[in-house]
Amino acid sequence: MNVAQHLAEQIGNTDLLRIRSLSELSGSDIYVKCEFQNPGGSIKDRAALQLVQDAIERGELKPGMTIVEGTAGNTGIGLAVVAKALGFKLMVVMPNDQTPEKTRMIELHGAELKTVPPVPFKDPNHFYHTARRLGEENEGFWWANQFENTSNMRAHYLHTGPEIWQQTEGKIDTLISVSGTGGTIGGVSTYLKEQNPDIQVWLADPDGSGSYEYLKSGEYKSKGSSMTEGIGIMRLVENFRQAKIDKAITLPDQDLISISRYVRDMDGILLGSSTALNVAAAYFAALQQGPGKTIVTFACDLGERSASKLYNDHYLQERGLNTEPEAIESLTQRYKTMGEQVVQVQK
Ligand SMILES: Cc1ncc(COP(=O)(O)O)c(C=O)c1O
Repeated sequence: MNVAQHLAEQIGNTDLLRIRSLSELSGSDIYVKCEFQNPGGSIKDRAALQLVQDAIERGELKPGMTIVEGTAGNTGIGLAVVAKALGFKLMVVMPNDQTPEKTRMIELHGAELKTVPPVPFKDPNHFYHTARRLGEENEGFWWANQFENTSNMRAHYLHTGPEIWQQTEGKIDTLISVSGTGGTIGGVSTYLKEQNPDIQVWLADPDGSGSYEYLKSGEYKSKGSSMTEGIGIMRLVENFRQAKIDKAITLPDQDLISISRYVRDMDGILLGSSTALNVAAAYFAALQQGPGKTIVTFACDLGERSASKLYNDHYLQERGLNTEPEAIESLTQRYKTMGEQVVQVQK
């Protein structure tokens, strides 16, 4: 019988879906890898599973122990799926400004949830330091450390990258990815460049993240702040450090509103906020590169996890954003002329 023995076995092997509207407009095939198909509903299920499997293999994580992790939410949901499936307890530490859609999922899964104020990384109460301390101070706790633990990118090197290579029959020209920990872009870019070093890898960075500036100038500088969650960072972490990036672009939240409404209306796909950035950047890259290319990006999760922000007019107005999407003709013209904003990453 071809059956799964536990939920964690259903992580990975996601479909690749063509975004018909933007593909036709740009003349390139723009595909999203449907990471919302994972049992926890996001791309972070993959990292959660690999972090836990590798820790068990190394003998660090033993039966009866508690997994502890600091997360913007999706890794917590992924770990909740994996922890229950493999017989561990879970404590999740999250900043308290993330969408309630995600905190509720963690609680519904029966994990212990601790929320902390959203403070800069140097503050000892940051969710990352809080999770680390809990791991260090409690015997029987194991800290997953998705930012520095490279089992995270290994998940994408071993699985996501090979899946994309097979699904496109090696015809992929361009990979576009946002980055939170950098696990996705780190693992997938490393695998794909080993198959074909000519594949172009683009980082899509939100307002307020320092990664774009870092690749441009070597320094982490922040400009603005984005409503996106789980992506954008102000420090260099190991999973991101190993990414093989050729180009980087930053796009404003206003574009995420425009692209998410267009894809919803034309293709019926409700994009989460990081996915809206991925898809906007993929469209941008398609227009910059010219027609005939095969471009792959990620549907990291679905819009229901961003309902109270990206799809909430009241929230958007409070942030000073225009709830009326820009017409696709205007967005297209603008993207065609924004070439000077692309950072060519020095090798
Ligand atoms: C919705 C969403 N998209 C993208 C990412 C970024 O993925 P990665 O950590 O692999 O860079 C995350 C989490 O980190 C996320 O929660």
